Amino acid sequence: MPKKAFITGITGQDGAYLTDLLLKKGYEVHGLMRRTSQFNTSRLEELCAPEAASERLFLHYGDSTDSLNITTLIEDIRPDEIYNLAAQSHVKVSFEMPIYTCDVDALGTLRILEAVRLAHLMDKTHIYQASTSELFGKVHEIPQTEKTPFHPRSPYGVAKLFAYWMTVNYRESYGMFASNGILFNHESPFRGETFVTRKITMAAARILNGLQDRLELGNMDAKRDWGHARDFVEAMWLILQHDTPGDFIIATGEQHSVREFVTLAFEYAGVPIRWEGEGVNEVGIACVPKVSEDGIPCGFIPGKGFEGVPMEERVVVAVNPEFFRPAEVETLLGNPAKSRDLLGWQAKTSFPQLVQEMLEYDLKKLSGK
Ligand code: NAP
Ligand code: GDD
Repeated sequence: MPKKAFITGITGQDGAYLTDLLLKKGYEVHGLMRRTSQFNTSRLEELCAPEAASERLFLHYGDSTDSLNITTLIEDIRPDEIYNLAAQSHVKVSFEMPIYTCDVDALGTLRILEAVRLAHLMDKTHIYQASTSELFGKVHEIPQTEKTPFHPRSPYGVAKLFAYWMTVNYRESYGMFASNGILFNHESPFRGETFVTRKITMAAARILNGLQDRLELGNMDAKRDWGHARDFVEAMWLILQHDTPGDFIIATGEQHSVREFVTLAFEYAGVPIRWEGEGVNEVGIACVPKVSEDGIPCGFIPGKGFEGVPMEERVVVAVNPEFFRPAEVETLLGNPAKSRDLLGWQAKTSFPQLVQEMLEYDLKKLSGK
């Protein structure tokens, strides 16, 4: 009998990479999918082998805010493993929708834990909770370890703190195999388009093709420990295969600023950025194709340069305070020693490789190839 996994948030970035991994490992995968007015399965379609998906992937309509729906699904599926990835995962949006964010991210986790308890699956089902480096928020030490005190800085972070402790509480109270993966930022070509890395690579691809004037960002001094989602979902799986449940930091151990990410994305195309000014007046200047009037990409090909394309030097990056947050997380850097020693996990993709893969994907998408 293949192992059965139930993934909430299956249509998101991590859900799609994890589904691909579990299908390759021979699992039967069940996913919770929201009803939306347009198809929301494009990531799964791009990442998962169609034969495996048609035989062993089952999608169920549902929502983390619907207790009955979650309980019924878990009772019916009786999964060996649950990966609770569903979340309103955008930190800035959580300031605008704090109550909804808590309903999904905090209570949504409790609904899963309770469903497993009520279905008498406590001895069978291993539960992975998608915890986050946002728990550390206004950091108390650098780098952060599993012992660093938490200090969340957003409704999202506070909701995830509740979910973290509920997971620990069910483990301690009922002996459930319930573990937290405290994941630092992880990105990919399938990252949501409003997170900063994807916003940068999409804008860079468009600017390099003469389709966009400039990129507007918020706090460019923010530093993150950025890894690749493909590497990080492997850690999720390893956490549930470990002999005992626990809480694990998953990080690369290296940090970069938003400004460095931008610089590297343009450098990949051989375009240096000159940074001038400070604070809200800071700008990035570069020599790039003029914005085309006809909306047709100039056809920039990495490595071949901009032969025959009309170029100009102009501001390509500027600060827009609209993207600032009421309270910011300035710096995150994880120490992944525990997961390396106990799980044998470590990040495989370097920061330059990550930026390159994302930019190449967005350039390819623009060219329609
Ligand atoms: P994502 O791309 O935003 O995906 C979130 C998933 O949750 C999507 O499938 C979304 O469905 C689903 N969802 C949202 N609200 C829901 C609801 N009310 N009911 C059911 N499903 C709902 O996020 P991600 O980057 O894959 O992250 C996965 C998890 O890890 C999240 O819990 C996130 O908070 C956490 N995390 C992420 C990172 C990171 O850097 N990526 C780091 C640490 C922790 P739709 O497709 O319909 O929107
Ligand atoms: N989104 C966004 N847009 N962020 C910007 C921008 C912008 O235009 N300009 C600067 N930033 C800064 C943010 O202020 C933040 O400091 C940093 O870039 C990263 O922002 P995001 O990419 O939105 O990610 P995040 O770190 O807030 O949250 C992500 O990582 C968490 C793990 O640490 C999300 O995936 C969370 O769900 C996850 O828990």
